[in-house]
Amino acid sequence: MEQLDQLMAVMEAAFDPHWREAWTRQQVANSLAMPHTYAILADASVKLANGSDPAAGFILARRAPGEEELLLIGVRPEMRGRGLGRFLIETFARRARDGGADRVFLEMRANNPAESLYRACGFEPIGRRPAYYRTLDGAKLDAITFARKL
Ligand SMILES: CC(C)(COP(=O)(O)OP(=O)(O)OC[C@H]1O[C@@H](n2cnc3c(N)ncnc32)[C@H](O)[C@@H]1OP(=O)(O)O)[C@@H](O)C(=O)NCCC(=O)NCCS
Repeated sequence: MEQLDQLMAVMEAAFDPHWREAWTRQQVANSLAMPHTYAILADASVKLANGSDPAAGFILARRAPGEEELLLIGVRPEMRGRGLGRFLIETFARRARDGGADRVFLEMRANNPAESLYRACGFEPIGRRPAYYRTLDGAKLDAITFARKL
C-alpha cells in the first residue's frame, strides 16, 4: 500500500471526529508534497513499517532550520499501550537530532490525554494559544505548545 493510503487508514481509525484534529487526505497529500514535511510509519511489532503490512501508527512532521515540529501522531486504538507512540516519538526525535535540530516541538489541544505521553518523552509546555481549536459541538479549546531540547 502506498504511504499516503497507509497513513490515512490509521488517521481514520485513530482520531475521534469530535475534536476535529484529524487532517483530510488532501491536507496530508499537500503537506507531504512539500520538501520539508515527512511521515514515519510503524507496524504492529513496534518497528518501522516496511510497506507490506498495514501501518499501526504514524507521525507527520516538518523540518525547519534548527528545529522540527511534530504535526500529528496517531496509533490504531487496538494497538495502543504497547509503546508504539513512544517509539514513533523517539524515532522522530533521533532523526531530528541527526538532521541538526536542537529542539523539537508540537502543539496539542488542552486536555488531550496524549499529554502524559509527551511529558514522559521529555516535552514541556512553553506556551498557550487561547481558543485555538473548536470541537464539533462548537466548544473552544486552547492549544498548548510543548518543546523538548535534544
Ligand atoms: C496518543 C497516542 C498516539 C499514544 O499512542 P500509544 O501507542 O498508546 O502510546 P504508548 O503505548 O507509547 O504510550 C506511552 C506512554 O504514554 C501513556 N499514554 C499514552 N496514551 C495515553 C492516553 N491516551 N492516556 C493516558 N496515558 C497515555 C502510556 O501510559 C504510556 O506510559 P508508559 O510507557 O509509562 O506505560 C494514541 O493514544 C492516539 O493515537 N490517540 C488519538 C490521536 C491523538 O490524540 N493524537 C495526539 C494529537 S495529534
